[in-house]
Amino acid sequence: MNISFPKIRFILWSVLLVITGLSSCVTVKSFKLPPPQPVNQAMAELGKQLFFDPRLSGDAELSCATCHQPQHGFSDGLALSKAYTGMKGFRNSPTLINTVYREAWMHDGRLGTNLNDVTREMLTESWLMNMDMRLMQERLKQIPEYVKMFQAAGLGEPSNGGVRKAIPEYLKTLVSQNAPIDKGTLSVAARRGQVLFEGNAGCNSCHTGPRFTDDRPHNLGIPENPEIFTDPVRHLTYVTFTKFMGIANPMALRRDVGAHVRTHRADKKDVGSFITPTLRELVYTAPYMHNGIFQTLEEVVEFYNQGGGSDKNKDNQLKPLHLTKEEKADLVEFLKSLSGDPLTGKKFVAEKPNVQEYPLIENWREVLN
Ligand code: HEC
Ligand code: HEC
Repeated sequence: MNISFPKIRFILWSVLLVITGLSSCVTVKSFKLPPPQPVNQAMAELGKQLFFDPRLSGDAELSCATCHQPQHGFSDGLALSKAYTGMKGFRNSPTLINTVYREAWMHDGRLGTNLNDVTREMLTESWLMNMDMRLMQERLKQIPEYVKMFQAAGLGEPSNGGVRKAIPEYLKTLVSQNAPIDKGTLSVAARRGQVLFEGNAGCNSCHTGPRFTDDRPHNLGIPENPEIFTDPVRHLTYVTFTKFMGIANPMALRRDVGAHVRTHRADKKDVGSFITPTLRELVYTAPYMHNGIFQTLEEVVEFYNQGGGSDKNKDNQLKPLHLTKEEKADLVEFLKSLSGDPLTGKKFVAEKPNVQEYPLIENWREVLN
């Protein structure tokens, strides 16, 4: 057989075209998180120490880690978080894993600048750590370990600004590791769940991208957590917050207004909407939703199966799904495969700070400072 050169060229080109055509048909979806941001080790080490130190709260009772515990994926296992002495929280503590990739924080999205600001909010809000930044600075200056660590991190002497740089630096290190979705090791059931998630169940219209969130608010008709309105202390904490956020007549509210505190729409169509949370690390972060109303992933999937809750502003993407028992189990399997290794090793958890009790000064009236 005598094949001419132009003929071979024609055949080769055709093969090439078919291959490129085929590969563009198979959409290769990537759930890869952005590459880790460069971390200043000395600063992150300081941030880690501060994160676990209760002396950062006004009465030295709460550290960041009280409400963001490593074994719970840096949430706290409670439906509604703790709060400063004498108050009780009204929101579910969110995971801090991958929080560095967010652009707006909190269930209502009210903080949208950077983690430096979020850290300030956590430290200074009266129902959170209720810390006066000047007091914090003076306290830290009296702890020789911190004086050394601030120096080593290039932050000079202990300062309010330094704390707000060091803690976010540590938060950069809290990134998902070895989740089956990233390693490509989904079980057969989880794969079936993924097909549903991206197909008939329509979950990925809001839970998109590598963190499985569009970072936007939606109203799902999540039932209220009655605890917020029946427990007087919790209620007062919530009222304090909404009043501060400029909501009219907060005592009369019987629901969490959600993103309305930020967007203040006159038609109130934003009332009851909450930012889509990440679906990574769910195996560690129960209970779920902004108010911890669901204990298990099975309950969450059943909620979506019913088409969500009831609310006049409910997102019209939510419709009853009519899933079979097996399909619901597959969806749960898929959700579980988005969780990685627990971040509970030394790299992420500080040793217990050596908190010195101040010795009692018996004759304090006579002693000069
Ligand atoms: C008393 C409990 C408590 C303490 C202490 C606490 N947090 Fe939080 N944290 C929460 C709760 C609850 C939320 C969600 C608040 C909301 O939506 O209104 C939150 C939200 C956050 C967020 C936003 C996460 C997201 O995905 O939106 C970050 C980041 C954060 N906290 C970091 C910290 C840091 C750093 C400290 C220590 C300086 C700290 N927290 C101390 C309870 C706490
Ligand atoms: C219309 C947008 C939308 C769709 C569609 C949607 N979700 Fe959600 N999802 C949200 C929002 C918003 C929340 C948080 C609501 C809250 O905190 O009150 C949420 C919360 C969750 C949570 C709880 C996460 C946590 O940490 O508390 C899970 C799990 C979840 N969704 C899974 C799914 C699954 C599975 C589907 C498909 C059956 C789905 N979602 C469809 C927007 C959506």
